Amino acid sequence: MKDLMLELSKNPFLLAPMAGITDSAYRSFMREMGAGILTTELVSAKGLNFASEKTRRIMSFTDEQQPVGVQLFGEGPEELAKAAEYVEEMGAHFVDLNFGCPVPKVVKKMAGSAVLKDMRLLSEILSTVKKSINIPLTIKVRTGWDQNQRNTDQVTQIAYDEGVSWVSIHGRTRSQGYTGLSDWDYISWVKSVSKLPIIGNGDLVTPELAVERLKNSNCDAVMIGRGALKNPWIFYQAMQLLNKEEKDYAGLSLMDVITKLEKHLSQFHPEKIVVLQLKKFSSWFSAGYPESAAFRQSIFQIKSQPMVLDAIQTYFQQVDLNQGLKTSNKPFLMGGHG
Ligand SMILES: Cc1cc2nc3c(=O)[nH]c(=O)nc-3n(C[C@H](O)[C@H](O)[C@H](O)COP(=O)(O)O)c2cc1C
Repeated sequence: MKDLMLELSKNPFLLAPMAGITDSAYRSFMREMGAGILTTELVSAKGLNFASEKTRRIMSFTDEQQPVGVQLFGEGPEELAKAAEYVEEMGAHFVDLNFGCPVPKVVKKMAGSAVLKDMRLLSEILSTVKKSINIPLTIKVRTGWDQNQRNTDQVTQIAYDEGVSWVSIHGRTRSQGYTGLSDWDYISWVKSVSKLPIIGNGDLVTPELAVERLKNSNCDAVMIGRGALKNPWIFYQAMQLLNKEEKDYAGLSLMDVITKLEKHLSQFHPEKIVVLQLKKFSSWFSAGYPESAAFRQSIFQIKSQPMVLDAIQTYFQQVDLNQGLKTSNKPFLMGGHG
């Protein structure tokens, strides 16, 4: 098995988990597009424990995606520990626990970000899950429940005491939802007082920003979510900037990117889903380019895979590829599970 920390240092640009988006097909695509360590979207521990086919499908991954972690959410130590054992049995590289999900249905059951309000529960969960597995355990958190209860320093200390391998921090509180901005000063401060590797996350929409935040925050790595949905080259670009390499972004055009995406989608999904996903992803890729609204509107009227590809080709051929770095900063996908 690869050394997780070595992998983190080799490529410090990780794909952030996004429910309904970062499925197995998308993760394979992102690995090909240069993303570092991958994590599944949040997976219900209860679903796994009840052997739900749907839940098992959500957590599925391939060997090519390794090192890949499975992110779990659930109610209490025992439920999470049982699911974590299953995740290990299935060959995942690590287990990640979600303590960031702000969704009311989840926090009502003292899962997701609700755990950030109860340090005893956090310790109990971490110690029980840690004992149940031999693979690394990581956690992903928000900065706290609300502005008056920001406690990632405390959370990180507990995680360290319980043998967790790293803490990923989305720099918003639970109450903030997706409003405001990720607080990178706070993330940097946590990093400066933490004994654990820290992965910073939030609003990294350009490769420049990803590299700047990585350096200035002193974080061990950064995670990119929505930025990759607008700019699928972001991981390549960030790596090249970090290594001070000449710009070439692997010589890919947007159409090349779509072709790669289609290949991965077709490996995992039936045609109907491939068509839907192509529409969704190409709409996101088009954000910030000229005439993107008209493109989005037209593409959703089309039904067949060849015609969708045709429309995508026609649109992206017109796009000036040099604009790849200039993705817009407008609010994008203001909701999610972490
Ligand atoms: C649609 C969507 C779904 C998300 N699902 C998850 C999830 O399953 N688990 C998780 O930890 N975070 C989830 N998140 C949060 C992201 O991982 C990330 O923390 C957040 O989007 C901020 O990073 P970004 O600005 O790079 O997108 C989700 C975010 C979005 C937009």
